[in-house]
Amino acid sequence: MRRGNDKHNYIQKGRVLKEDEKEVIAKRKLDGLKIPLEQDVQARATSTLLECVHLIHNALPEIDFSSIDTSTTFLNYRFGAPIIIDAMTGGTPEAAKVNANLAAAAEKLNLGMVLGSQRAALLGEELAGTYSVARKEGPNIFLAANIGGAQLARGLNVDDVKKLIDIVKADALVVHLNPLQELIQPEGEPTYKGVLARIRELTKQLNIPIIVKEVGCGISKEVALKLQLADVAAINVAGAGGTSWAGIESQRAQNMKSLQKAELGETFWDWGIPTAAALIEVVKAVKVPVIASGGIRTGLEAAKCIALGAALSGMAYPLLKAAVTSKEEVESVLNKIILHFKATMFLVGAQKVSDLRNTRKIITHPLRDWLEESP
Ligand SMILES: Cc1cc2nc3c(=O)[nH]c(=O)nc-3n(C[C@H](O)[C@H](O)[C@H](O)COP(=O)(O)O)c2cc1C
Repeated sequence: MRRGNDKHNYIQKGRVLKEDEKEVIAKRKLDGLKIPLEQDVQARATSTLLECVHLIHNALPEIDFSSIDTSTTFLNYRFGAPIIIDAMTGGTPEAAKVNANLAAAAEKLNLGMVLGSQRAALLGEELAGTYSVARKEGPNIFLAANIGGAQLARGLNVDDVKKLIDIVKADALVVHLNPLQELIQPEGEPTYKGVLARIRELTKQLNIPIIVKEVGCGISKEVALKLQLADVAAINVAGAGGTSWAGIESQRAQNMKSLQKAELGETFWDWGIPTAAALIEVVKAVKVPVIASGGIRTGLEAAKCIALGAALSGMAYPLLKAAVTSKEEVESVLNKIILHFKATMFLVGAQKVSDLRNTRKIITHPLRDWLEESP
C-alpha cells in the first residue's frame, strides 16, 4: 500500500501514484530523448528567421581577437559567454548521464543550464538523483529547476515546488509553457486555466528568480507583458524553427497507435512564432531580460540573437547527441559555438558583449513582415 503520498497527487487529483505510473513517466522521458536522437523531429516548413538578420561586416574592427571578452552577467550570475544549455531531461536513468555530461561541461566553461521538466523527481530518490547529478557535476553553475505550467494548473503545490528546487539547489526556477505539446501527447494534460495566477503565486512565495519559457512555439509580446506583470525575472521565448515538440509527440503517438494524436501533431508540426520574430517583439515589449532559444544551431546565430537584444542564447538539440556520449564531447560542441560567437564579435568590431548588443543590423523579409504585422 502506498500511503502518505497524497501530496504527490497533482498528476490526477484524488488518486495515488502507482509503481507502474513511475515506469510510464520514465518511458515517456526516455522517448523524449530517443525520438529527437533517432528521428528527424526538427522544424520542416518554418525556420527561426535568423537568416533574415544581417550583421554588418566591419573591415576595421580595431581590436585583437585575443582580447575579446565574451563574458556576461545574467540575473547577477557571471557567465563565460551568453550561452545557456536549455532544458532537456531527467527522470530516467539514461537522463542522469546526459545531465551529468551537460553540467560538467557547463562547469568547465562557466555557462548556465536548465534541467528538464522535474515533476518525476517527486516520485522518489532514484528519480530525483537523475536531476541532482547536475548539481554534483556543476557545483558552481547557474542551474535552473523546471516545472510545467500544466502541472501548476493541476495543483502542484508550492511546497512540492520548493522540494524540487532544493533537490538540485537551484539558482532559479523555470516554468515551461507547452500547450501544443500537452494537446498532442497521448497522455497529455492540456489544462491551462489559472496558470498565470499560479506563476504569480510562485513569484510571491519563492525566494529565487522565476523564468518562464516555451518549448518551441514562441512567446508573443502579449504573453510576455502578462508575465512581466506577474513579476517573472526573465522570459525565454523558445520559438519555432528548431526542435518540434508537435513532431516528437506525433511520433510517440504513432508508436502508441494513437492515430488522431499523430495526425494532430503532423498538422501542427511547424506551429509557432519563429524565434527571431518572438525575440524582437518581446525585447521591445518588456524590461526583463529575454533569452532566445529554439533552433539556434551556431555561434553566429547565437550572436545574432544577442545583437537583437537577447540576454542569453539557449540551445537544446545541438547538445543532445554530444551529451549521450561524454562531457568532453559536450565541451567540444560548446567550444565550437563559443569560437564562432567570438568570431562574429571580432567581425563586427565588438570587444565586449555589450558592444555586440549595440551593433547595427539589417532585417530583411520575411522576418520584416512579422515585425510590420506587430507594430
Ligand atoms: C531532447 C529534448 C528534451 C526537452 N525537454 C524539455 C523539458 O523537459 N522541459 C522544457 O522546458 N523544455 C524541454 N525541451 C525544449 C528545449 O528546452 C527548447 O525550449 C526547445 O527544444 C528549443 O530548442 P532547440 O531547438 O535548441 O532544441 C526539450 C528539448 C529537447 C531537444
